Amino acid sequence: MVQGTTQIYGVIGDPISHSLSPSLHNPAFAALGIDAVYVTFRVSPSSLEDALRGLLALNVQGINVTVPHKSEVFQYVDEVTDTARRIGAINTLRNDSGHWIGENTDATGFIRSLEPLGLSLPGSSVGMLGAGGAAKGVAVGLLEAGVSRLFITNRSYDRATVLAELLKASFGQQSVSAVSLEELEKKELNLLVNTTTVGSEGHSSPAKLSRFDKLGAVTDIIYRPSRTPLLLEAEKLGLPNLNGGGMLLYQGISAFSFWTRRTAPEIIMRKALDEYLSKL
Ligand code: ATR
Repeated sequence: MVQGTTQIYGVIGDPISHSLSPSLHNPAFAALGIDAVYVTFRVSPSSLEDALRGLLALNVQGINVTVPHKSEVFQYVDEVTDTARRIGAINTLRNDSGHWIGENTDATGFIRSLEPLGLSLPGSSVGMLGAGGAAKGVAVGLLEAGVSRLFITNRSYDRATVLAELLKASFGQQSVSAVSLEELEKKELNLLVNTTTVGSEGHSSPAKLSRFDKLGAVTDIIYRPSRTPLLLEAEKLGLPNLNGGGMLLYQGISAFSFWTRRTAPEIIMRKALDEYLSKL
């Protein structure tokens, strides 16, 4: 029940009405008996600064940040975690005594989602398809987890080069390089990750897996459809594979823990996500 003591959390973005986050966080607060509610705020780009100041003034405790504010929000926060700085985007804000602390939970969310594959990431080689916004979170997660060699390929090759250079500045010890798809197919890869939007329509694939020389496992950050053409091919070839549902879940779980400093009720949140996805 919402009462005088209820604390407010929420998500800012534009558009925002279809956000999954209220369905994920409200049951989690209820399960732990936390007196809090999670709502959506539609905030246009021109109102971002006012909104963030207003949310602090109203003592809102935590905020998720989504499209189109993930980069712009940097200029209005008081502190940023190393992970968010490396990614160049913020998806979670915590109100620490009237100051916003910016974090990005996509990186840890992605890495936790890989657990069912049982991979050992430190020292491994990973190929990444795509060099857009989502690719940055995935790449930073992989490099923070100790991946030794990260090969990035992208339709617009320049973007892959720019991302590789950016990552090298933060992760000098590890090898990060932009390669063509043909070059990637020749690498020995423990994991191949699709971060492009190709496959979300259900009929195209960003790569032909049968052309790869040596591949350990395949993941797609797309969660709808749950089986993209890339994952269907992985299944056909007998390769362990995962879709993006886990990343979606664990970025939310990480945000919940970042705000509340408590272990998130994962089973409840997974059930909430499954229900949400089944209605799409
Ligand atoms: P997001 O934030 O979801 O990552 P984005 O920053 O627009 O969105 O990036 C989309 C990614 O999908 C990019 O790597 C994009 O490749 P380009 O940089 O060449 O645009 C990739 N992508 C989208 N449509 C594609 C297509 N039809 N073929 C190949 N790659 C595609």
